[in-house]
Order: sequence, then structure tokens, then C-alpha cells
Amino acid sequence: MASGSSRQPTSHPKWHGRPFYGYDSPAVQEHYVGRSAWPAAEFFMPHLEPGMSLLDCGCGPASITVGLAEVVAPGRAVGIDIEPSMIAQATTLAKNQGVNNLRFEVADITDLPYPDNSFDRVFSCAVLEHLPDPVKALKEIHRVLKPGGLAGLIKTDWGDPLISPESDAVTRFFRLFEQGFNQQGGSLNRGRHLRLIMQEAGFDVIEFFAAYGNATTPELVQAEINGYIAWMDNLPWFDQAIELNVVDQAALNEIKEGMKRWSELPEAFIAKGRCVAIGRK
Ligand SMILES: C[S@@+](CC[C@H](N)C(=O)[O-])C[C@H]1O[C@@H](n2cnc3c(N)ncnc32)[C@H](O)[C@@H]1O
Repeated sequence: MASGSSRQPTSHPKWHGRPFYGYDSPAVQEHYVGRSAWPAAEFFMPHLEPGMSLLDCGCGPASITVGLAEVVAPGRAVGIDIEPSMIAQATTLAKNQGVNNLRFEVADITDLPYPDNSFDRVFSCAVLEHLPDPVKALKEIHRVLKPGGLAGLIKTDWGDPLISPESDAVTRFFRLFEQGFNQQGGSLNRGRHLRLIMQEAGFDVIEFFAAYGNATTPELVQAEINGYIAWMDNLPWFDQAIELNVVDQAALNEIKEGMKRWSELPEAFIAKGRCVAIGRK
């Protein structure tokens, strides 16, 4: 198995050398720190056993990975991510939580540095939507799984968010964010095709469903919208969108103000979809 890495995050020179989505931005990284294996990976837990080997692709700060690693201990668990500062955070988290069977490396999900048939289980949450060729990543996951091994996958689908009361500002934000993903060939709105592309990559899909993440209280709605406003203030895409004449600064300000006002309505509700699958090699 490879150790360390010479791989660097993908970027476009026009985008100031930063990955478009801002994987290196604290505003993004903080968003994932609050996640955990329960409930995010609950669907996959019945398939994990002590002693199994496990890979988490695009592990981010590893807030989910540490919980998976604890379940397969003393089996070896590995988290990979293309962004070095995510791997730094992940390493610190595992150390602080005393999870000793888990290690991390910088690597690309579309070019995994592992031999064929290396892992019993592979997990990946909210990564495929970033990729121009998710089937290539799925074929890599399939390759590194042992025969009979299982992949547990989550792919965002924000194509039809439930928003009440309707909000032009929130709708415009989602449209603009999707345009950013489209700029580099990804999409936030195609989780619904996860089973299809897994089959294309050679998986036998044994479980597939869609679920919604709900912001049901005023506090949750405000936290979610404040997070999006922080993304608008911090992610390279929103500067690039101005450079590319997709939007201007006045419109961005209008969207932010509209979102803020909407999030303060006591009746505001938002839920966004994701699709979840388990595939067997
Ligand atoms: C939305 S975050 C999800 C993080 C974590 N899986 C979670 O759900 O909390 C997406 C992660 O995928 C990583 N990523 C994006 N493209 C990648 C690639 N080609 N290979 C590996 N990781 C990638 C990003 O750096 C980021 O940490």
C-alpha cells in the first residue's frame, strides 16, 4: 500500500490555483466536522464487522470515518482525500479520539494508490457529485474491493429541494451553486442516477434509496442558510462566477440578503435530497 503522497488537488489557473469548490476553505471544512457515522452511515453499519478492512474515499475531516474505523477495529481503516488540509484535520481528529487502526493519505478517488482486491468495504459520502467522471471513480472503488466486497455510497441530489415558503433567493443560490459544479463537470442534482452509474461500473446494487436531510426548526434553518452565506463569502466559485459574468456582485448581495430574511421566518423549512446505495463486487 502506498504511503504519503505526491498528489496535489486539481485546480484551474483561472481560479487562483484553488480547487473551485474550496476544499481548502475553513468555511467548507467546518461544514463537515459536525457529521458522524451515526446517522450518516447508518445504512452501511449492518455490513461492517470487526476485523474487516475499510477505505473511505473523500473522507474530508474524517468525522464519519472515525466511527466506521471503530466498528471494523482491529481491522485496518484508511481515509483518502485529495485535499491535504482535510487530511491534516482528519489525522488530528483520529489522534484526539484515540482511533489507532485508522490512517490517512492524500489521494485521488479516480486513481486509487492500492492494488486490486485490497478492501472488504469501501465507503464514500458526498464526493461523486464533485467529479466530471463519477463512473471512473466507481470503477476504481470496484477494482480495490475484494470479490464479494461491498461499497456504501451517498450521492447528493439537490435537484428538487423542498423549500417553504418559496424563496426566489434560496432557489437562485441553489441554481448558482449547481452552475459552479457544472463548470468542472460535476453536478449536485444527479444523485438519483447513482444506481445506474454503479451498474455501469460493474456493481450488483443490493440496496438503493433516496432520503431528505431536514432543517425543521428555526435554529437549524438559520444555521444552514448562514452556512451557505459563508460559502458565498469564501468559496472561489462565487468570485469565478463574477469573472465569468454568470452573476454580478449586486445580485450576489441580493441573494444573500434574501436568504437571510427568509431564514428568519419562523415557518421557514428546507429539506434536500441524497441517494444512498450499497453495491457488491
Ligand atoms: C463534500 S466533502 C465530503 C467529506 C466527507 N466524505 C463527509 O461526508 O463529511 C467532499 C470531499 O471530497 C474530496 N474530494 C473531492 N474530489 C476528490 C477526488 N477526486 N479524490 C478524493 N477526494 C476528493 C474533497 O476534498 C472533500 O473533502
